[in-house]
Amino acid sequence: MLSIRGVRNLARSGRALRSISTSTARSSDALFVHRDTEYNNSSIPFKFNSQNEPITKEILSRYPPQYKKGAIMPLLDLAQRQNQGWTSISCMNEVAKIVEVPPMRVYEVATFYTMYNREPVGDHLVQVCTTTPCMLNGAYDIMHAIEKDLHVKPGHTTNDKKFTLLEVECLGACSNAPMMQINDHYYEDLNNKSTLDIINQLKNGKQPHIGPQSTRHTCENSSGLTNLTEKPYGPGEHCQPEFQ
Ligand code: FES
Repeated sequence: MLSIRGVRNLARSGRALRSISTSTARSSDALFVHRDTEYNNSSIPFKFNSQNEPITKEILSRYPPQYKKGAIMPLLDLAQRQNQGWTSISCMNEVAKIVEVPPMRVYEVATFYTMYNREPVGDHLVQVCTTTPCMLNGAYDIMHAIEKDLHVKPGHTTNDKKFTLLEVECLGACSNAPMMQINDHYYEDLNNKSTLDIINQLKNGKQPHIGPQSTRHTCENSSGLTNLTEKPYGPGEHCQPEFQ
């Protein structure tokens, strides 16, 4: 075994310390590295269109002029919406130009938050939550039903470019597990049938019912009310007479 001095000497002598490590190489760096492609390179122009241009101004007005960089996230979101649901390198460069920061500052944000899609996605981005509460309530059954119906695996887009399927971590609607998000909408209390109904309606250009697919209105107890069942008392009730 090498002493610390031995390791330092090895480093100084220019021999790679890599040979000492036994850990496997990370392949997840593919998520963070940009490689120019035909459809995603900085020579492809991107500008906010006439509809979004005034919105960029409104977003910038929310921040003091010296903190324009605070607008990076909403501007990236707007750019992604204009760019068919994904954030290209040109979108990031344009946002960096607007907020006057080095492009790397914007790349750091876009690669950190998973809501920025850095590859093209289908018209309907289907994100199925498989974290514990959803998983225990059948999230993988739902996932497999969608895979079978759309003939795609998570991370892939259908040939007609209509659907992209993703497996994601908790989306914060655990009390309505299992659930999925499609574009901006949540669909909750799912089972295989209701999930496929939603997918079919989207295939046919219809807007499915948003929210719980059960009889629940939101996330209330599905066995009915167990408390706050009586009329609440009014102001002054139960007070000493002098306070009534
Ligand atoms: S675990 Fe699925 S929404 Fe929280």
